[in-house]
Amino acid sequence: MEPNTLQGKIKKNPLIKEIERRRTFGIISHPDAGKTTLTEKLLLFGGAIQTAGAVKSNKIKQGATSDFMEIERQRGISVATSVMGFEYGGVKINLLDTPGHQDFAEDTYRTLTAVDSVILVIDVAKGVETQTEKLMQVCRMRNTPVIIFVNKLDREGQGPFDILDEIEEKLDIKVRPLTWPISMGREFQGVYHLINKNINFFKPNKQRLEDDITHISSLNDPLLDELIPRYADYLREEAELIDGVYDPFDVKDYLSGQVAPVFFGSALNNFGVKELLETFIQIAPYPAPRKTDLRDIEPHEEKFSGFVFKIHANLDPRHRDRIAFVRVCSGKFERNKNYLHVKQGKTFKFSNPTSFMANDKSVIDEAFPGDIVGLYDTGNFRIGDTLTEGEKYIFKGIPTFSPEIFKELINTDPMKAKQLEKGIRQLTDEGVAQLFTQQPGNRRIIGTVGELQFEVIQFRLLQEYGASCRFDFLNFYKAVWVTSSNNAQLRDFINQKHRNIAIDKYNNNVFLAESEWMLKRSMENFPDLEFHFSWEVV
Ligand code: G4P
Repeated sequence: MEPNTLQGKIKKNPLIKEIERRRTFGIISHPDAGKTTLTEKLLLFGGAIQTAGAVKSNKIKQGATSDFMEIERQRGISVATSVMGFEYGGVKINLLDTPGHQDFAEDTYRTLTAVDSVILVIDVAKGVETQTEKLMQVCRMRNTPVIIFVNKLDREGQGPFDILDEIEEKLDIKVRPLTWPISMGREFQGVYHLINKNINFFKPNKQRLEDDITHISSLNDPLLDELIPRYADYLREEAELIDGVYDPFDVKDYLSGQVAPVFFGSALNNFGVKELLETFIQIAPYPAPRKTDLRDIEPHEEKFSGFVFKIHANLDPRHRDRIAFVRVCSGKFERNKNYLHVKQGKTFKFSNPTSFMANDKSVIDEAFPGDIVGLYDTGNFRIGDTLTEGEKYIFKGIPTFSPEIFKELINTDPMKAKQLEKGIRQLTDEGVAQLFTQQPGNRRIIGTVGELQFEVIQFRLLQEYGASCRFDFLNFYKAVWVTSSNNAQLRDFINQKHRNIAIDKYNNNVFLAESEWMLKRSMENFPDLEFHFSWEVV
């Protein structure tokens, strides 16, 4: 496997060394597949934590929707573990956490805009699950390179060929196994590394870091029959089949998002994780260029640029400040230097920019492309905002998807109308939900992907803004953004459908369709209109 370097590109640039050293990625999975466990094992290898059990799951347990303590706990944990930086093999790894609960899927989609690659965890017994399919769609949209870790081989599951077929079919990506399991469940012997040609023997142990690796010269080595007498011939047959079915692994196909290398292991037993990590640091992409409305921004450009992909409210209700998570895209970020907030046309400097190392936060003086910086914010930032050294462009590609549940926000305390207005604006800036406004009457419609957000909003409005509200269910099917170069037709549509038209926070026209049928008919009746199912926050 060829290492992934920026060779050939202006070697003298001092930024190159820092850029080549960075890998910024996210782990995605369906809840319970083992994301938290794998994260913890990666941090153990990186020396960022010393014992297993130190990383808490950020899961909200199913059925805990009314448990506000659980929601608060979740918020607390996800601030601490939003970004986990650690060093391994001379590489600075930035691991961005993604919420497991599907009600927070939008948050995950946005986080995926800030990574350069992804590790996808799949439970060998459960195979490809719904949440995995959705998350992979987002990765496929952006051609994000993906490495797959098939987890829980210590349990009975589907055969490796079957699971690989299922991945290819459901996730629309070609796969290439790099390791291969020797049996599974109670019979699980270990994995054979198809490239390094060695066997890693499985010994269940949750704390162990060292692997038990035995090298063999080839699969014909008689040592194999001594080591695994019952499985040697079977492994030979399977290896032959693998070479017949799958093309040889080419790093270029992985980097272009066409082929996903696959590893097998057991995160809980720290088994197969080292192979994964070693390969990851070797082949995973360094910070990539990012698209803006003006031009592509290369990471080694001298001037700093970055964008906000996540905003997190502080937990302390006495301080209304928030943390805006900025992905550095180019140049060097420096503490106390003035940067332009392009959307607002104002400059800001930051005296306490924060970096995150596992469960620790610390103030930093500088950060490089691929790094995530936490900026304390008093309400100036929205998701998608761009910071530069003066040039005016906006980073693209931060998607908003149609919500699935719609409710009208009703103020239940007229004395607190202003607080409610401010609260709902700020919470929707954080991306907790989407806000649509209908005229006349300034009707507020909140759209989310899950019920849980309504409870979070109601709770936080009261706790943080002293505003009380209730939600009335609205029977909308989808929010679709509508644009057209045919102004007359657009006006006509808005007049005819005024009951279903609202504007989003950025003054874009949104059609709130009551059913799939209604949406289809509108598309037929107004052929010059464009109906957008996702929208970029710019
Ligand atoms: P998630 O973040 O993707 O939601 O999953 P998480 O790591 O929390 O793992 C979900 C469950 O699967 C946990 O069990 C975890 O211990 C278990 N698990 C993870 N990797 C493996 C593995 O390789 N083999 C086996 N057998 N189990 C694994 P739990 O009972 O829900 O939680 P806990 O009480 O063990 O913490």
